[in-house]
Amino acid sequence: MEKYKLYATMGAGFESIVAKELQHLGYETKTEDGRVFFEGDQKDIVQTNLWLRAADRVKILLKEFKATTFEQLYDETYAYDWAMLLPVDAKFPVKGRSVRSKLHSEPDVQSIVKKAIVNKMTDQYHRRGFLPETGSEYPLDVHIYKDRVRLSLDTTGPSLFKRGYRVEHGGAPLKENFAAGLIELTPFDGSHPFIDPMTGSGTIPIEAALIAKNIAPGLNRKFAFDNFDWFNKELHPELVAQAKTKERKEHAPIMASDIDQSILEIAKVNAHNAGVLQDIRFKQVAVKDFSTDLENGVIIANPPYGKRLKDRQAAEKIYEEMGQTLRPLTSFSQYYLTSDPNFEKYFGEKATKKRKFFNGNLRTDYYQFWANQR
Ligand SMILES: C[S@@+](CC[C@H](N)C(=O)[O-])C[C@H]1O[C@@H](n2cnc3c(N)ncnc32)[C@H](O)[C@@H]1O
Repeated sequence: MEKYKLYATMGAGFESIVAKELQHLGYETKTEDGRVFFEGDQKDIVQTNLWLRAADRVKILLKEFKATTFEQLYDETYAYDWAMLLPVDAKFPVKGRSVRSKLHSEPDVQSIVKKAIVNKMTDQYHRRGFLPETGSEYPLDVHIYKDRVRLSLDTTGPSLFKRGYRVEHGGAPLKENFAAGLIELTPFDGSHPFIDPMTGSGTIPIEAALIAKNIAPGLNRKFAFDNFDWFNKELHPELVAQAKTKERKEHAPIMASDIDQSILEIAKVNAHNAGVLQDIRFKQVAVKDFSTDLENGVIIANPPYGKRLKDRQAAEKIYEEMGQTLRPLTSFSQYYLTSDPNFEKYFGEKATKKRKFFNGNLRTDYYQFWANQR
């Protein structure tokens, strides 16, 4: 099978996590900001889309070149053998992005690339300037960084965070791949207890249960590659069946609680959809009343942030309550994600380590308190 230059994309800060995931799957990796490169064939495209937990997408790097003028961009794009990749009726949206480059207008970059592909395809397919674009979708993107252009084909489609288990509702849930990445920054592997005392719609314990049970996060969804006409259609069902044989049955307790019973009901539906309802113990309890007999595990929580002034006091009070009930659990490694720069002050302890992440556009810190080191 043909080998491709592939790369996974991810949110800032998750590069090393995704690189580790890829290495664990057996790939050699090279990391850049927001991307981890590896090589593979169609089977690897399926495998990585199914198994990567913290990544956004898996893309095929089609061509890389330098361009400082629109002529160069057009000519180099035109030179690629597009008819090899795209059938005559292919729908091929082009996304453009340009950072610190001479060709800085993203709409222009995108439309020049689109035009070059259309012109090449009409020449190759002997069409007169018209392509129907009524067939399957091949999402393309052009990314320019410091004048280096990369043309890629997205094999994923909707981002990998869309696992397919979430019921839509108005809250502010973490993205699934973000939650998985946060868990992967801890020692959690399912052999020790896991607690999320402010679980909301349950994203963190659901992702923890998927990790504990070694369930591939992409089992219940489709990918862009499913529609590529040159893609071997047997690979996806084959690798799904193989993934299902790898599921583990036993794991240590996973606890999820929240003050709000109605959000817990949503969390349960999500857990059911993800196939892990029986693996998580849900309980309605305010953090000030939280207690546990469990030991030597991992606690992760994403408490309210108190972004608006009027919510801030309430959030700070919750951090104090967290400090009172959770801080004494020193056999647990504890991890808290919040945008409040004063979290440690109210929690009552300095973190062993902090790590910066963007939750959407919001800058947050991941406060880490390592077990038995306090
Ligand atoms: C930012 S949300 C968590 C979102 C969650 N990680 C998700 O992905 O859906 C914060 C959660 O803390 C809960 N909460 C607020 N105050 C609480 C308290 N005093 N005790 C326990 N939970 C509380 C809220 O009900 C809310 O579900």
